[in-house]
Amino acid sequence: MGFCSSGCKMLCRVKYVFLLLLSLSVLAWISMLSGDSVKSALALSVAMLPLVKEEDTQNVANSGPSTAVPLMIPTPRAECPKESPLLQGAVKLNFEPSLQLEEVEGENKRVAQGRYQPWDCTARQSVAILIPHRNRERHLLYLLHHLHPFLQRQQLHYAVYVIQQAGDGTFNRAKLLNVGYLEALKDYSWDCFIFHDVDLVPENDHNLYVCDSQPKHLVVGRNATGYKLHYKGYFGGVTAMSGKQFRKVNGFANTYWGWGGEDDDLRNRVELQKMQIVRPPADIARYTMVFHKRDSGNEINKDRIKLLRQTSRVWKRDGLNSCKYQTLSVERLPLYINVTVDIGKP
Ligand code: BGC
Repeated sequence: MGFCSSGCKMLCRVKYVFLLLLSLSVLAWISMLSGDSVKSALALSVAMLPLVKEEDTQNVANSGPSTAVPLMIPTPRAECPKESPLLQGAVKLNFEPSLQLEEVEGENKRVAQGRYQPWDCTARQSVAILIPHRNRERHLLYLLHHLHPFLQRQQLHYAVYVIQQAGDGTFNRAKLLNVGYLEALKDYSWDCFIFHDVDLVPENDHNLYVCDSQPKHLVVGRNATGYKLHYKGYFGGVTAMSGKQFRKVNGFANTYWGWGGEDDDLRNRVELQKMQIVRPPADIARYTMVFHKRDSGNEINKDRIKLLRQTSRVWKRDGLNSCKYQTLSVERLPLYINVTVDIGKP
């Protein structure tokens, strides 16, 4: 009896210890398993996160729920080809007086808040198009109508910024472009900036809106000048500069009020920095200028010749680093970002 009871006690203890060890190992095993699955779930979501970019979300919003699934597939997109297969060359431009903004919006469903990126490849450059503007709604509409499909055929990641000068004081194209550069950089670190007149529409999509190793002038010819370069140093209308090139020259001068001279001043700045202006071939760099009368508030700047003699003396203190303005509003419209600014007076 005595032996049995002490033997039974012993057996019971061994049983408890065994059960305790078993439950401990089961607990350890469960926690190990759940830890792993949490980790692997995290790894998966991290792997997928970079693919759901801000632009992708815009595209989803733009083209309805059916496109949401492909955008989540965690496959990295290859870089777009050097030459886009979508280019068409010279295209026929039309300027229908009955054209409406809603029509242009309907034709560009993949543009959201003025911004677009190719859905099937990673663009080689991210480009901000800067358009100084005041009271030229029809010209802006014609330009947007042609420019959006043109840039999409070039497979670019781009955004269009329209910089509106508030009030009816003397117009200052150069200062508005400085503002456009500074404002666009608040949204994204764009590689390239295109300084674009509102009344010039590109005719050939081989005229690439990308930056080169040197500042690029894109308007070799326009209908108004018989498709010939206006004059040897002409650097107006549409130009492309990388952020680095533009900073190197301290941007545009802020002091050219009224029409003329500011583009020649930019050329002076580029030359002072020993950079060379490059141009695409003349049969490609062609533009149609939409006819217009001189705007009131943009009279010829009589001081421009005097100012041009001063570039080498003043460029370091007159430019991006001295550009003072007040942003009145930033509206993210479907086809462009509308920045309204008070840039002061002469
Ligand atoms: C002006 C430039 C202008 C060019 C072409 C020049 O006299 O200084 O600003 O772009 O003419 O019209």
